[in-house]
Amino acid sequence: MEELRREIRHHDYLYYVLNRPEISDEAYDDLFDELKRLEEEHPELRSPDSPTERVAGRPLEAFPAVEHLVPMRSLDSSREPASLRRFDERVRKGTGGAVRYVLEPKLDGLSVELVYEDGVLARASTRGDGVRGEGVTENVRTIKAVPLRLRRARSAPALLAVRGEVIMRLSAFEELNARLMRVGKEPFANPRNAAAGSLRQLDPRVTASRPLDIFFYDLLHAEGASFETHRQVLEAFGAWGLRTTEMVRDAREVDDVLRYHRDLEAERDELEYEIDGVVVKVDDLALRARLGETARHPRWAFALKFAPRREVTRVIDIVPSVGRSGTVTPVAIMRPVEIGGVTVSRATLHNREEVERLDVRPGDMVRIERAGDVIPQVVERLPARGERGPRFRMPATCPSCGTPLVTSGPHTYCPNGLRCPAQLAGRLQHLGSRDALDIEGLGEETARLLVSEGLVRELPDLFDLEPEQLEPLPGFAKKSSEKLVASIRKASRTELARFLYGLGIPSVGAKVARDLAERFRSFEAVREADAETLAEVPGIGPHVAGAVSEFIRDRDNRRIVDRLLDGRITVTGAKRAARGPLEGLTFVVTGTLDRWSRRELEELLERHGAHVTSSVSGATSYLVVGEGPGSKLATAERLGVERLSEAELADLLERHGVR
Ligand code: IVH
Repeated sequence: MEELRREIRHHDYLYYVLNRPEISDEAYDDLFDELKRLEEEHPELRSPDSPTERVAGRPLEAFPAVEHLVPMRSLDSSREPASLRRFDERVRKGTGGAVRYVLEPKLDGLSVELVYEDGVLARASTRGDGVRGEGVTENVRTIKAVPLRLRRARSAPALLAVRGEVIMRLSAFEELNARLMRVGKEPFANPRNAAAGSLRQLDPRVTASRPLDIFFYDLLHAEGASFETHRQVLEAFGAWGLRTTEMVRDAREVDDVLRYHRDLEAERDELEYEIDGVVVKVDDLALRARLGETARHPRWAFALKFAPRREVTRVIDIVPSVGRSGTVTPVAIMRPVEIGGVTVSRATLHNREEVERLDVRPGDMVRIERAGDVIPQVVERLPARGERGPRFRMPATCPSCGTPLVTSGPHTYCPNGLRCPAQLAGRLQHLGSRDALDIEGLGEETARLLVSEGLVRELPDLFDLEPEQLEPLPGFAKKSSEKLVASIRKASRTELARFLYGLGIPSVGAKVARDLAERFRSFEAVREADAETLAEVPGIGPHVAGAVSEFIRDRDNRRIVDRLLDGRITVTGAKRAARGPLEGLTFVVTGTLDRWSRRELEELLERHGAHVTSSVSGATSYLVVGEGPGSKLATAERLGVERLSEAELADLLERHGVR
């Protein structure tokens, strides 16, 4: 069995990492089936790093918080060559002149930390806030290019932490979006969102069905190994089977960097995945250490970004569109055009003044731009050649409800709130969107239909729908009606963060919603908090706090939320903030204990207010050491983190009155 595993691992490496398979798919399947059969016959000889063990069978309740072994900083970046020159000057000041740089593409995906213990993948986490991320080990295991066991594992460092980027190739992205749309789900706006959304699935089987890929580009920690240059690190990555990009170059001068930047930018559309710039890194690791880092980014690396992508197409029409918060935006309807792997047929013209400034009219050719995940926008009108249509005129009344529109500076609003069907439909669609309740089948069109047919007059009505009411609607039949109602029911049990986001509170995006949920843990607690308390939450400023407070105090909103929580939506996963004698302490557990299972101990500690994380860092208060500790012990020793035996832990708990 070990031999089969080795062989399969090798073929995985050839196929997924080197893209150079040596055997046919059939021959590979035979090996794989043979191993599976043997593992079934001899379950006692199973091994977690076996190639058959990529996909865990069970969904998680929530992602555990994982502290990074070493903080994961972000990159200093700019689109301006002048910034690159300043970076270069600062580096040279530290060296007396000559420097060697390594150049790499800046991959546009999701940054992750992977930790290998004795050559075996132990855990993986997203970058999060740089210090702590979400533990996504089960999901990362499903990425075929991730070795569950390093090549030459025996000579690998006992503890290795590497950083890489999880991406989705454009072909996979398009297939995924087509698949989502077939089942009435919202497509992803770009491959980065698709990669992030797929990695953040609680059910690893869903992640496994989304073809993700990974590239490695930074060494975070390697116990016992020493490297002099980044080039050596990349070479070691290659030897361990950790894929690096093939586009790595050396450079000594700023001009070399600019040339590489220009070449890559020209090649960009031919690549199978999205890149959004080039990363310049000091090669010499000793010099890196001397340069050091700021709180946010290292002084030894810099990203020179690409300009956003632009395309030219023809405007067919300009229509006013009422958003979920009432803002009326002129939208250009255009001949569909592909920009960086995404088909675009609508672009925002922002507001009345912007339409006038650009003087865009139906029939005009325009240049549109898509910058990352931002909605495409019209940046310029090309000189007109043929016939031009009429100028756009902002209507005096709301195109949806007929209420006279209100202008404020360049902006135009419909003041009719949720009584306006367009705003209600927008809010309904938002409530069902992926980061909110994620209701399958509730897209833009269905939301509009439910509102225009009078089935939903207020958000809570959604949860009272019966299949019989949907059946007569255009596009619905018995089965699809039952399906939508079932998915609404299913989605009505949700986590606090999703609920908060789904309410569509102005300025509350998914991240702010998660921060609020983490801090307050229950909707009542959010509701009771005043603007000042809200503003104390890390990541939430006075502006957002004010918006939340205002929303919550509004009488109409209050009534609607009350109706939602009155048996229609159950907010789960919002564990009550555990308060107790252990508050402020962070524990990590390694090895097995006598008195408690790992799980029991973690629950006990958390119940009394402690924080339990899965990896040791400077923020760890105690490492609890059981029988057969892992490499966490060595990390704790190195970082000077206090260690507790089981007996010492029992004493500590007793002293704190915990039993
Ligand atoms: S080096 C802090 N190299 O870009 C230095 N980062 O906006 C360690 N990224 O989230 C990172 N490609 O994860 C490095 N070749 C590359 C990269 C890269 C993409 C990511 C990085 C970060 C983001 C910064």
